[in-house]
Amino acid sequence: MQNKFYITTPIYYVNDVPHIGHAYTTIAADILARYNRLKGKKVFFLTGTDEHGQKVDKAAGERGKSPKEHADLLVENFRELWVKLNISNDAFIRTTDKEHKDIVQAVLQELWDRGEIEKRSYSGWYCTPDERFWTEKDLVDGNCPECKRPVEQIQEENYFFLMSKYQDRLIKHIEDNPTYIMPETRKNEVLGFLKNNELGDLCISRPKSRLSWGVDLPFDKDFVTYVWFDALLNYYSGPAYLSDTDKPWWPADHHLVGKDILTTHAVYWSTMLMARGWELPENIFAHGWWTIEGQKMSKSLGNVIDPAKVAEEYGVDAFRYFIFREVPFGLDGDFSEEAMARRINTDLANDIGNLLSRTLTMIQKYRDGKVPSPVAAKDRDDLEKKIKAWFDETALPASYDDFLAKLQFNHTLTRLWKVMAEMNEFIASSVPWKETDEETLSNILYVLAESLRILGIYLYPFMPDTANKLWNQLGIDMDIADINIEEAGKWGGLEPGTEVKKGDPLFPRIDLKKKFKKEKKLEEKTEQKKETEKSEDNLISINDFAKVQLKIGKVLEVEPVAKSNKLLRIQVDTGEKRQIVAGIAKAYTPEELTGKKVVVVTNLKPAKLMGVESNGMLLAATDSEGVLSILTPEKDVEQGALIR
Ligand code: MSP
Repeated sequence: MQNKFYITTPIYYVNDVPHIGHAYTTIAADILARYNRLKGKKVFFLTGTDEHGQKVDKAAGERGKSPKEHADLLVENFRELWVKLNISNDAFIRTTDKEHKDIVQAVLQELWDRGEIEKRSYSGWYCTPDERFWTEKDLVDGNCPECKRPVEQIQEENYFFLMSKYQDRLIKHIEDNPTYIMPETRKNEVLGFLKNNELGDLCISRPKSRLSWGVDLPFDKDFVTYVWFDALLNYYSGPAYLSDTDKPWWPADHHLVGKDILTTHAVYWSTMLMARGWELPENIFAHGWWTIEGQKMSKSLGNVIDPAKVAEEYGVDAFRYFIFREVPFGLDGDFSEEAMARRINTDLANDIGNLLSRTLTMIQKYRDGKVPSPVAAKDRDDLEKKIKAWFDETALPASYDDFLAKLQFNHTLTRLWKVMAEMNEFIASSVPWKETDEETLSNILYVLAESLRILGIYLYPFMPDTANKLWNQLGIDMDIADINIEEAGKWGGLEPGTEVKKGDPLFPRIDLKKKFKKEKKLEEKTEQKKETEKSEDNLISINDFAKVQLKIGKVLEVEPVAKSNKLLRIQVDTGEKRQIVAGIAKAYTPEELTGKKVVVVTNLKPAKLMGVESNGMLLAATDSEGVLSILTPEKDVEQGALIR
């Protein structure tokens, strides 16, 4: 089918309540689904729950319920959360659906008949909580290499999917299709694994004596299907029976998954599809994990973030915005309510909220609440031209599309905010409240209102309610969901004469002091900011500058600092060998840095970062989109050279 877009989230285990990790993937899929609908594509967005297997069986047992009763109760938490978070999924699959189970059995039968599955006697180390067999050499100190819990030796007959024979084909597929696994670093991990290890066969059965909660093997009723084999097939079975059109949705355009379940998707699922003779998906994207205020999220630490609560307190759209603005989708990120509240005040209340409210106030005050007619000839201000140019097909629309095709949600948002910053500059420089030429004033107001209308469309996939509120206040009585972005995104769509309806602020400001009761800290921060502002005006003397000793260094060795996803421990030769700890792990891999010539501040007082001593600092620049670049000399200057 042409012009279709099929996107999936993992199906979540119904062994617990949903958390920020579940919300993260599901909102990402929602953003892409909404955007593709605006582009006029036929979209199928599938999410759901994984209801078989040991984890669910165990959780049900602990609650004194049968697994199905338990699943029926817990599935509602997911369904309700998706409604609260404004998720526009087209279908919700449960692996206990009869139709799904029938498809799983049909696939198993077919593979069995074709000799892709074999019965073998097997003895291995089994990790019960993870439901996985490990070989002797996989074990770490005799324990499960993944969860570090004890394993038990089990000998039994089982059924194996002959996955190993697809190893070379899989390597080739990944190499031939550079965007099959994204981001690049994850693709390289998978390739590295496949090239350096012999792929085994996959045990896809569990004897009922050990676990009875699953889909029966159609050719041996003493066994149930391994939960992953059953779960992965949801991506194929879902559209087959849950879509109200008979469109062939397969193959999926994106499977969004967390980094921890990339292997099951990239290796198990890909080879299952090869064996069955179905096409492979276009892309599997593995996103990073959230820590909570620097710590791993866990029940025992009591820091599990309930997305429903956060959304209730701060608003659904603020939450949707924050988690995609704060961190690139492929990297790990840290969630803190305070960081979110700050962003709400700056990016949402200030930038977009104020921009709309100022524009509407001026239209009310100077044009009786009606959008004025633009006067093309008055298009003379450079900044005004620059703003209009953003909305040319090749500018904002093209980069937005390109960023989203690469799932670079944070870049997409940064770009939108750049346009807003220029609009604010435009207001400041054109000083509409002092403008005496009526045509010029009309033009300024039109440019602002029309830019906001189009920005509303681009904000919509991320913040659907806010975007619609924005349109409503501009006097447009339409749901953005119903428009086509190519047509409605063109400059000039806002009808002059439209009566604006200024309403409540899009985002009320949060009183940070009251909320976080950290007056002292906050005051300190403001003071610090004032200080920097002051020194920006005040020039420093050459003597002040001379206090900083800068030298060229050569990077000798680099390794990540344990338990930190930001810090690298770098050995640098600056005439003498020194160790520097720098927060650049998200921008550079150790391999990229090794051998580079860098600029080092050599007379900084030593400091300890995460317990590791750092002697000096590397200089780096960050651009407006947060891309970090270390400084290197233009010619090959020898290490130890002084910079003056
Ligand atoms: N049932 C399997 C998936 C089967 S898909 C065919 C499963 N379920 S899960 O309920 O454990 O969901 C896990 C999802 O949540 C994964 O994508 C995982 O990466 C994600 N996260 C769990 N904790 C997370 C964070 N702290 N941060 C971000 N995502 C995290 O695995």
